[in-house]
Amino acid sequence: MSHKLKKDIHEIEHLKYSLRKPIHASLFENKAMLSKFAWDIHTYNAKKFYRDNNPDHESSFEKYGYITGVLNEEESKLLKKIYSSCKKTTLDPFDFDSDYSYEPRESYHKDMARINNYYEPSKFFFDNIPILLDPLKGKLEKENKFYWKVASCRVFAVKPVRKTQGFHKDDQPSGINKLFFYPNGVNKIIGSTTIIDKLNNEVVVDLKPGSWLLFNNSQCAHQAYTSENSLLRPTIEIDIMSDFISDTTLNYTGINSWHPWFPILDNKLKNKSQESYNEVYDRNLKRLAGLCILNKSGEYKFPCELSDYYDESSVSDFINGKYSSTIFSSNDIVFRHVESDNMENSIKYIVNKKGLLYFLFHFIKLMPLLIVKKIINKIIKNIK
Ligand SMILES: [Fe+2]
Repeated sequence: MSHKLKKDIHEIEHLKYSLRKPIHASLFENKAMLSKFAWDIHTYNAKKFYRDNNPDHESSFEKYGYITGVLNEEESKLLKKIYSSCKKTTLDPFDFDSDYSYEPRESYHKDMARINNYYEPSKFFFDNIPILLDPLKGKLEKENKFYWKVASCRVFAVKPVRKTQGFHKDDQPSGINKLFFYPNGVNKIIGSTTIIDKLNNEVVVDLKPGSWLLFNNSQCAHQAYTSENSLLRPTIEIDIMSDFISDTTLNYTGINSWHPWFPILDNKLKNKSQESYNEVYDRNLKRLAGLCILNKSGEYKFPCELSDYYDESSVSDFINGKYSSTIFSSNDIVFRHVESDNMENSIKYIVNKKGLLYFLFHFIKLMPLLIVKKIINKIIKNIK
């Protein structure tokens, strides 16, 4: 296991805002990209696995992007008790595990604290939430069309603020959905959630105390609806994630921890296959570090900006054997070979690929720059 690498990543991600290094932005961006690939494939496989083992059926969640339900009387009482067992706390945005996605934006952290009160999940919370989740296990499987586990959880209350975050999609990877329990219910008077469903209807959720809402927070735009009567809107949030077996055990790694970057985390087969689990985990970290060498981000990009990079307008046709788009016509990759260790092979590669004249033209153009770069590097080394 690359303990040092893991420790370095943790430290970089937990530096105070003012001490953040440029590599933090690259690390976040690269993690998010790798994570989305991994989750797409994982969720595709989890859905296929579910479909292969269950008869086909309709899903309201799939059609509308959200569903609601009501707990029975006993469960509703338990929900209130669970909520009131959690003591108010201050949002610590650095309370997250580096194996989990987190919200890195300082401005967003300020918004979170301005809009919500946060509460520390109690022992009673951890012991009793599964009692509410267990009866919902099968229903949520059917609606999601995958088996599921708890990715993260948090307890908060929306304050009656004048301005919320506005409509947004969370742009988390596929296979992650939000389940909200409302101990006091939700409506316009006590505060609610507004969702634009998959059929483009704007819905202010209206539910009695002891209800729940499951919604696709990455496909349906949503925002908090603040109370018209200046009340707090208590919420218990359980983020669920696709998997190959369902398990209602709670998973909590910090108030700003959301879902595992890589979907193999916390697998149930740990005892049997600990060794191979560690190997995969280790490779993930090393690949991530490698990608940070290749892909350095010039600026912070956030989950909503990492949805899909592909932009139809940036790619034009493949004409006469050449792409005219900026994505596929860049020559940068060719000149990376000049800087590689095996100079002779690199030169041959370029000459074979582009011709001698092309090589000489760019060589003469870049040579002074390369020399200056080497001199500067030598000076820096001497200073150190
Ligand atoms: Fe959201």
